[in-house]
Amino acid sequence: MKIELINNKIYLNNGNSNEEIHPFWLRERLDGEEFLDKGTQQRLFDPSAMNCEIEIEKAKISDGFIEINFNDGASSRINLEKLATEFSNKDTVIKSINKIKWDSSLENIKNFNFNENFFESKEMHDLLVSFYEYGFVIIKNVPTENNFIVNFANSIGSVRRTNFGEHFNVRSKSHPNDLAYTSLYISPHTDNPYRNPVPCIQILHCIENEVSGGFSTLVDGYTVTEHLKNQDPEAYKVLSEVKVRFKFTDKNVVLEDWSELIHLDETMLLIGVKRNFNLSNNFVREKRFYRLENVLFSPFHLLD
Ligand SMILES: [Fe+2]
Repeated sequence: MKIELINNKIYLNNGNSNEEIHPFWLRERLDGEEFLDKGTQQRLFDPSAMNCEIEIEKAKISDGFIEINFNDGASSRINLEKLATEFSNKDTVIKSINKIKWDSSLENIKNFNFNENFFESKEMHDLLVSFYEYGFVIIKNVPTENNFIVNFANSIGSVRRTNFGEHFNVRSKSHPNDLAYTSLYISPHTDNPYRNPVPCIQILHCIENEVSGGFSTLVDGYTVTEHLKNQDPEAYKVLSEVKVRFKFTDKNVVLEDWSELIHLDETMLLIGVKRNFNLSNNFVREKRFYRLENVLFSPFHLLD
């Protein structure tokens, strides 16, 4: 990536194309004391109050900097490397971690072991990278006393409280308001689809297991949706377009959100999958959905 100056216009050359950087954008980035707070690197002026007809009167590149004089009298000296970084995706660290799609043939999963100085360790860093690669990670020997799981979660980010509280105890109750409080079998699902935003990183901590048998199963939404996209593009299209109402109701709260089962971003990349048919309040208006009602179930590969 290279910044170039041609006839008082500044271009970004990424090797394939040469695109002009708008003078207004450059004018917004003035970094003199009256324009930028040095401590916070936050802007001290309102760009919307600027003259719309901003043009570059004079510019020159030397010693890794570009010096620009604008037609409204302002001038600036911008570090070229810093400028190029704005156009690279270097600051989007998470996007730089490639996702690894997996199915039930996945073997040799690395387990992590909690120890005293875990939060600031290289092991913790590797754990987070592994999480972004696979979408899950298994950690053993995490302390079970005093809701330690909340401390663990806060070492990564802030715990987002829900109507269930700061954490959710999964155990059998006599008058449950959620199937998770029962001993009933629940098929693979995503939690809280009626919430917007849905839980991002979810942490499950086994405190005590008094029973034998049973499996904890995981499903890779990326693998499933890619399989569906190849096998039945029409189904994929419907599930990524039709919005379903997910709703949770108990005596204290009503939570509701309308969203697609396959959630794509503006570039059609997969952001997330929702699947939770235990919520009987789910509702769909469009008939084309029903032909496909069970499509998303079939290709799930379970990880034992
Ligand atoms: Fe769940």
